[in-house]
Amino acid sequence: MTLDVIVVGSCMTDLVSQAPRLPKAGETIHGHKFFIGFGGKGANQCVQAARLGAESAMVCKVGKDFFGDNYIQNFKDSGVHTDFVQQTSDAATGAASIIVNDAGENAIVIVAGANMLLNTEDLKHMQPSLICAKVLVCQLEISAQTSLKALCMARESGVKTIFNPAPAIPFLDAEFYKVSDVFCCNESEAELLTGCPVSSVDEAQRAGQNLLARGCGAVILTLGPQGCLVLQAEGSKHIPTEAVTAVDTTGAGDSFIGALAFYMAYFPKMPLEEMARRANQVAAVSVQTMGTQTSFPFKKDLPAALF
Ligand code: RIB
Ligand code: NA
Repeated sequence: MTLDVIVVGSCMTDLVSQAPRLPKAGETIHGHKFFIGFGGKGANQCVQAARLGAESAMVCKVGKDFFGDNYIQNFKDSGVHTDFVQQTSDAATGAASIIVNDAGENAIVIVAGANMLLNTEDLKHMQPSLICAKVLVCQLEISAQTSLKALCMARESGVKTIFNPAPAIPFLDAEFYKVSDVFCCNESEAELLTGCPVSSVDEAQRAGQNLLARGCGAVILTLGPQGCLVLQAEGSKHIPTEAVTAVDTTGAGDSFIGALAFYMAYFPKMPLEEMARRANQVAAVSVQTMGTQTSFPFKKDLPAALF
């Protein structure tokens, strides 16, 4: 069987508190609900691609602990291939403390733990599968060096790459742009990377052009309720999205990227703007329910027109 979508990235146990607002420094506030979920940007993207029907594999490292064991079971339950999931006793499974306010906005602290121990040597295991894959996806919740190596390996194998520079770092190695077929980030990541403000579609346009000029094949800048902007050498297009009531936007960007990976793998001739329009629709479903992966839709829940 060929693994069409390979995600090299992070797994986190999400510890989520719902509260009316985000607390200030030094402040304690009452929240009204707590739950534990499966998260981490890499795993989220991989699970969303699998839920749309992609044959997907995750390349990652979790701890040899309860959370790591649970995470591997979660991948199996989600139909994600786990041949390249490793466990280490040198660090704990990654964890994310998340607070979601009544507006559906969030603040997140991640302790990457075992994720940071995924090294370039570990990537060798995926090489035989990589040559048959269609798309490889990376983010920045594992070591940047490992992400960059994975993207380079994909390029050498003729596999399309999606790079999501999240969470963003101000000084990103310039090579990342050159090995990205699609460089996909949100407003705050684009601001940090370019130093340009991104508070309107026009500003996003300028920041996106700045990123595109650094050598990526295309840039997609996600804009929350405003949809996204797709920038390519041929031109750029704003793709609006339907208005929905957001309950929890955590992981909406991951739902978008997982869907994008699915479309790039199975509809390679589809214009990127159309892929982005459909990925917007998938992500819009995710924000209407609490939680991260728990809110990601399956193919059967979505309109047939998306497939
Ligand atoms: O993008 C959302 C994700 O960011 C959460 O699942 C959390 O684990 C953090 O990695
Ligand atoms: Na959600």
